[in-house]
Order: sequence, then structure tokens, then C-alpha cells
Amino acid sequence: MARFLVTGGAGYVGSHVVLALVERGDEVVVLDDLRQGHRAAVPAGTELVVADLANRARLAEVFAGWKFDGVLHFAALSLVGESMRDPLRYLSENLNNTINVADAAVKAGCLRFVLSSTAALFGFPERVPIDETATLLPASAYGESKLMAERALDWAGRVHGLRSAALRYFNAAGADPGGRLGEDHDPETHLIPLAINAALGLGPELTVFGTDYPTPDGTCIRDYVHVMDLADAHLRVMDKLCAGGPSVRYNVGNGSGYSVRQVIDTVERVTGLKVPHRIGPRRPGDPAVLVASNARLRAETGWAPRYPELDDIVRTAHAWRAAHPQGYGDRGAAAQAA
Ligand code: UFG
Repeated sequence: MARFLVTGGAGYVGSHVVLALVERGDEVVVLDDLRQGHRAAVPAGTELVVADLANRARLAEVFAGWKFDGVLHFAALSLVGESMRDPLRYLSENLNNTINVADAAVKAGCLRFVLSSTAALFGFPERVPIDETATLLPASAYGESKLMAERALDWAGRVHGLRSAALRYFNAAGADPGGRLGEDHDPETHLIPLAINAALGLGPELTVFGTDYPTPDGTCIRDYVHVMDLADAHLRVMDKLCAGGPSVRYNVGNGSGYSVRQVIDTVERVTGLKVPHRIGPRRPGDPAVLVASNARLRAETGWAPRYPELDDIVRTAHAWRAAHPQGYGDRGAAAQAA
């Protein structure tokens, strides 16, 4: 049994990772400011520290209070569009918070660190599938902030011996197949939950952002990867770090792409409901095709997706939302937490 600190562990990807760790018998301390996270997403019996990562004194206290075998850092601003309206906030908050967590970890002698990173590092890629040797050229301040965070960890590695794994997610989607956790963002900006909400009558009709891309049906193609498969990747890379492995960088996706139209068709087939939608203009900053090469992750960690089918991704996402029409039902809780 090991003990891990998970920042952002009450958020979407973080909470699924916490569940996977707890289920295999690890001890977890979640640190989350609950601005986006949900108290109800933290398993009963798991310690939740409600704190802001800007608060270095509080971070030092947390590291003094527990001895951690490693840190998994999810907490971040993560909206591409918002990052282009307020780039300096994204660069400042995401970089500084990563530095604060890494610095507290190094000072406490905790030298294993997993970072939640993103395919946004690659901007408009020259070729797909995208492997780890592709040029790092973010097209958004969000992507840039994660690249800077990765680079900060590189320096902490060179100078302080911090060993880090950065996982560059493609499109995280789906929900715990056991129905305990799901995706509940405010605002929601992601395609699959928006399509499901539209189908269930819980949200407005979906707008398809552009049908004039150079793809077979004219809509953008993305690599949707099940959040439990993402969770599995985190456990594997942390285990490698705990076994003495070096710093690594991995792209995490299914390795196959689906268009926006294919996603809509799948939601309709899986739910038996129509997805009300209309065609709109392109969304600025959207590349036509983003698909991962997961070859390095597979070869070096033995990872393979257990839920590679879009049907399963949509089915689990739909099941949770249908059972939780109000999500975790804590809208406004963030204001109280603050
Ligand atoms: N889309 C629509 N209508 C919507 C929302 C999305 O047509 O209302 C389309 C987008 O244009 C895109 C696809 O659906 O082609 C997926 O869009 P998402 O917003 O769900 O996801 P993104 O691919 O834009 O973003 C994801 C992650 C980001 C990450 C990025 C990397 O959510 O964190 O991939 O490029 F930065």
C-alpha cells in the first residue's frame, strides 16, 4: 500500500484516478479548492483538504502532515477558449501552482510526480497520429501553460532529482462503469456531455462547430479516450516511478479518431434519443484531426485501453448523466467553499 497526494482529485479525471487508487488499496489525500471539483466525487473515507494551491504555507503543512509516496497533480484551469480570453491568468495560475506543488514535494523529499498534461501541447500537428517526438507548439495559452509546467518539472528533475511523468491526454470522456462518478463541468464545453445533455433535454441543442474541414464528413476528428483508461495510465506510470523509473512523457489516447458527426450518431444509437443540433461556424483554434499514437505508452507500461469503443464511452457517460440530471447537485458550492 502506498500513500498519494492528488491535487484536483475532486475533478473529473482526478476523481476517477482517486477511485482507481482507493480500489486497489492505496491511501489518498485529495487537495482541491472545489471551484470545479465536487465534494461528492471524493470517496467516503478519503481525506479531502480544501485549499488553494497558491497557498504555499498550506501546501507545506499538508506535506508535513503526511508522508507521500508520490503526487498526482490535476488541479488546473483547463478551458482552451477561456485561456485565449485571459492568457496571462492561465499561464500564471497553471505554472505557479505546478511549481508550488513541485517545490513543496521536493522540500518534503517526495520525488515522484505525475502531471495531467494535454494534447494541446501540439497545437496544429504536422502529422497524425501524434507521437511524443512531434513538435511542441501550443496554439492556446492553455497548451502553453501545460508545456511550461512540464518544463518546470524537467528543471526540478535536473536539479533536485524529481522524477516526473506527464500524460498528454487527448479527449477524456466517459464515466466510471460502476456509475459512482461522472463528468460535471460548469460550464460544460465538451462534445460528448453536451450531445448527451441535448439528447436528454437537459441542455440546449448542440452546435456543430464547422462542416467544412478536410475530413471525410467535413467535421473535426478527435481521439476520445475513456476516463478509466486514463486512470489506468496514471497508476501504471506512478508505479514505474515508484519502482525507480526515470521521467517520462506519454501521449494518451485510443489511437483512433471519430468525427463530430460520428459522435452524434453514436449518442443517438446508444441512447435511442435524437440529438437536437444545428450547424454553426468553425470554433477558432480547432485543428481538423487530433489522434494519438499510444505506442510508447503501450510498449513501456503495458497499458492498453479496456474501453476503446466509442459506444462504451458514450454508454457510461450517458448512464451517469441520466442517473444524475443535476450532476453532483452542488452548483454554488464553490462560492461557499471560497
Ligand atoms: N464541438 C462541437 N460543438 C460543441 C463542442 C465541441 O462541434 O459544442 C467539437 C469541437 O469543434 C471539436 C470536438 O467537438 O472538434 C471536440 O471538442 P471538445 O471541446 O470536446 O474537445 P477539444 O478537442 O476541443 O479539447 C480537448 C480537451 C482539451 C485539450 C484539447 C487538445 O478537452 O483540454 O482537446 O486539443 F486541450
